[in-house]
This record gives sequence, structure tokens and C-alpha cells, in this order.
Amino acid sequence: MKRIAIFASGTGSNALKIIQHFSAIETPIEVALIVCNNAQAGVLQIAATHQIPTLLINKDIFFKGHHYLPQLQQMQIDLIVLAGFLWKIPPKIIEAYPNKMINIHPALLPKYGGKGMYGNNVHEAVIANKETESGITIHYVNEHYDEGKIIFQAKCAITADDTPSTLANKIHVLEHLHFATIIEKQLTA
Ligand code: GAR
Repeated sequence: MKRIAIFASGTGSNALKIIQHFSAIETPIEVALIVCNNAQAGVLQIAATHQIPTLLINKDIFFKGHHYLPQLQQMQIDLIVLAGFLWKIPPKIIEAYPNKMINIHPALLPKYGGKGMYGNNVHEAVIANKETESGITIHYVNEHYDEGKIIFQAKCAITADDTPSTLANKIHVLEHLHFATIIEKQLTA
């Protein structure tokens, strides 16, 4: 069995799609753990509904302590998937999972990436700059925000009447369509 840990801080719509994908098909891949830094996050309810173990993490331990590496090792995690996780990943975790940690970003990197560029901030910047297209980027995680090697991108058009909120919806459609399949490819390649 290949075991995925999903790190998520918010609603968890991507986490839900990934969980549904791997429970619907015959595959030796499972979502084994949800890691979250926010006790109120919707993703924890999703994990409970699907009986997936959760790890609620503390900032000091994540950044200055053992970084939760013992727990990740104990759970025999093969791939870490960041799906709306907003803390920077400490170098010790990156070193422990070389090319085994991927992130989804709601824009066409290298544009609209970096510190502070997450969720609606990204869509607001894209609309303010009157871009005619945006999209999603799935990439490996390295020590710099949103700079790891790109694995996959998909685009959507932006029309004159789009707002940050309608663009966010278009981006979520793309994310839900592609993320689980790309994860599956990573684990079966
Ligand atoms: C997603 O759109 C993801 O691309 C974005 O957070 C959203 C989480 O949605 N991630 C980032 O902005 C990371 N820089 P979800 O909680 O519904 O999956």
C-alpha cells in the first residue's frame, strides 16, 4: 500500500476529492493521514466522516521541535500532498521527503507565487492585473515558496465579468479535475 498524508488548513475541498478518488477505484493507494494546523478547519470534519486519522499540529513543534517527523515515519507516509496548507514547510521535512512532497497552487507559476500568495490573494492579484488566463500548478516542494519543479499545469480563460470569487470557482473546478490523477501518477510512475 502507498500511503498519502494530506496537509490542509482550510475547507478541504481538494482533500475530499482526493479521498473520494482513491476510495472509488481499485488501487493500492490510500489517504492515510490528514495533517492540519487549525482546529476549526473544515478538512477535519471531512477526515472524521471518512474515518481518516488526523494530526493537529502545533507551530512550535512544527518549526522548532521534531517537525512531526516521528509521526510521519510511524505512519509510513510515501507522499505528502499539500492541498491548501499555508505554513512554509521546514527544511527538515523537505529533506526527509525528497521529491515526495507536492503542492497545488491556484495560479500559473512562476507568476503569482511566493509569500502571501495563497487563496483569494492570488485571485485578487490576477484580476487586478487584468490577466486573460489563469490556472493551476502542481509542483514539487522545495525550500522556497512555490519554486519547486513544475509537474503539471492547466489553464482557464478569464472573462471581463470574472471577479476573484468566480475565478476561484473556475480554479477549484480545475483542481478537482486534475489533482488526484496527478497524485496517482506520482505514486505509480
Ligand atoms: C486551493 O485553491 C489551493 O490551490 C490553495 O488553497 C485552496 C484550498 O482549497 N492553495 C494555496 O493558495 C497555496 N499557496 P480547499 O481547502 O477547498 O482544498
